[in-house]
Amino acid sequence: MTSHSSEKSKNASGEFLAFRNVDRYIGWTSGAMSFQQSEDFRYEELSSKRILLMEQILSYVDSNRDRYLSELKEFLAIPSVSSQNEHKDDIRRGAEWVAGQMRTIGMQNVQVVDTPGHPVVYGEWLGASGKPTVLLYGHYDVQPVDPLNLWLSPPFEATVRDGNLYARGSSDDKGQVFIHLKSVEAYMKNNGNLPINLKMIVEGEEEVGSEHLDDFVKQHKELLKADLALISDSSMFAKGIPSVCYGLRGLAYMEVEVTGPNSDLHSGSFGGSVHNPIQALAEMIASLHDKNGRITIPGFYDDVRPLSKTERAAYKKLPWNDKKYAKQLGLKELYGEKGFTTLERLWARPTLECNGIWGGYTGEGAKTVLPAKAFAKISMRIVPDQTSATVAKLFERHLKKIAPKTIQIKVRTLHGGEPALTPIDSPGVQAAVAALQKGFGKKPLYQREGGSIPIVVQFKKLLGLDTVLLGFGLPDENAHAPNEFINLDNFFGGIKTSIHFYNELPGYWE
Ligand code: BES
Ligand code: MN
Ligand code: MN
Repeated sequence: MTSHSSEKSKNASGEFLAFRNVDRYIGWTSGAMSFQQSEDFRYEELSSKRILLMEQILSYVDSNRDRYLSELKEFLAIPSVSSQNEHKDDIRRGAEWVAGQMRTIGMQNVQVVDTPGHPVVYGEWLGASGKPTVLLYGHYDVQPVDPLNLWLSPPFEATVRDGNLYARGSSDDKGQVFIHLKSVEAYMKNNGNLPINLKMIVEGEEEVGSEHLDDFVKQHKELLKADLALISDSSMFAKGIPSVCYGLRGLAYMEVEVTGPNSDLHSGSFGGSVHNPIQALAEMIASLHDKNGRITIPGFYDDVRPLSKTERAAYKKLPWNDKKYAKQLGLKELYGEKGFTTLERLWARPTLECNGIWGGYTGEGAKTVLPAKAFAKISMRIVPDQTSATVAKLFERHLKKIAPKTIQIKVRTLHGGEPALTPIDSPGVQAAVAALQKGFGKKPLYQREGGSIPIVVQFKKLLGLDTVLLGFGLPDENAHAPNEFINLDNFFGGIKTSIHFYNELPGYWE
């Protein structure tokens, strides 16, 4: 073990040295946080035997690129859309495909476990006694593909264009699950074993709220026992800027039904005497934000943990440009809560969005109708220390209070998930930092994300596990939208990074 003062130290062979005990990263519990690496690194030289092995494994990845892509295309060809009943058989095929891969790459005890909803796929390799056990989580289900006519190539025929692979699920999350399957394969093929113990669960209901996953975890606590959880289902900061994610927002998803008259009415005969339910609903929805972009529901912000000074300062140093971002989105100007930067609003502030609104006549041509009903789907992204149950209650109470007497209102909760913050000083995160540095040749930065992965908090609650969020997507890869893709540099960089992660982890665990 040698000491160096610069993070750029290399050993004689030019190999970047694994850095250890990196820093006094101050985690969340202590209230402050430093994103700066300490000047005082300690490095461990990898033995030359291990370096050779790593070179062999990594070059195996390079020489198998074409096969990896064609296998991934097979996986992406299965339309495993979890929200649509017509795809129930495809969902099962997706699960079986994952199980088949697990068996092929040498995972053991592989099972497709039925749940009251879609199956969970489990597999393990537990041959590294005394080494840490990683619980890897991902999902094989995907979002619906509509609007289909906006896809430039069919969503389930993966197509390479400009260094990207286009297909539904390519980034979220089949491509990222596949990254891990192939990193395990490369390790096993070249070494006969893994440097860690690995348990994998790949579920089929993530995109519809993971309804049965909690019960699955509760029923299999012993089977899922591990030292840390690992999830690749998020994004890097930007192309060429790898990052470790340490925070996710949660979600409370609501549906509102507004009823006016007991039947659709002729808008000429009745317009002027009846409050149009679509108008009433629109008025209510419009009132949920004030002119500063703040949510008007009483008590909504009560549990929001303020951003610390250090965290705000750290975000300001990240390479970000509002104008460029707006332009990318085709916008003249951005919108959001006053007093916060865009990254703060995206990652650490709660929001309320109307996801859909419908009612009345939306078919061809004109129909003069005053509809009986109007509906909206409204979701709120929540942040620590808000909870989805509390926020859902506040929403329901407020909507019932502001509903005018001219209509009737029903509010339903569709699903919820809790926000998460993971400690960045954990050994797992430090191993991920080292792995990203090696896999992408650049020191990663720390970031949060605006999206939600509800199982992260459940892993902590039910299994006591901290999660490492090692995402290989990009924020602009059209997840949930037409023309979803995964960047191929990141795909192959992701495979190499995962290999490094497995290799590095034991050294950080001791
Ligand atoms: N992979 C995403 C979560 C995500 C998105 C993480 C963006 C980081 C950045 C996941 O598949 C997803 O879409 N989750 C849902 C939540 C769920 C409860 C339906 C989401 O965030 O809308
Ligand atoms: Mn996902
Ligand atoms: Mn998703």
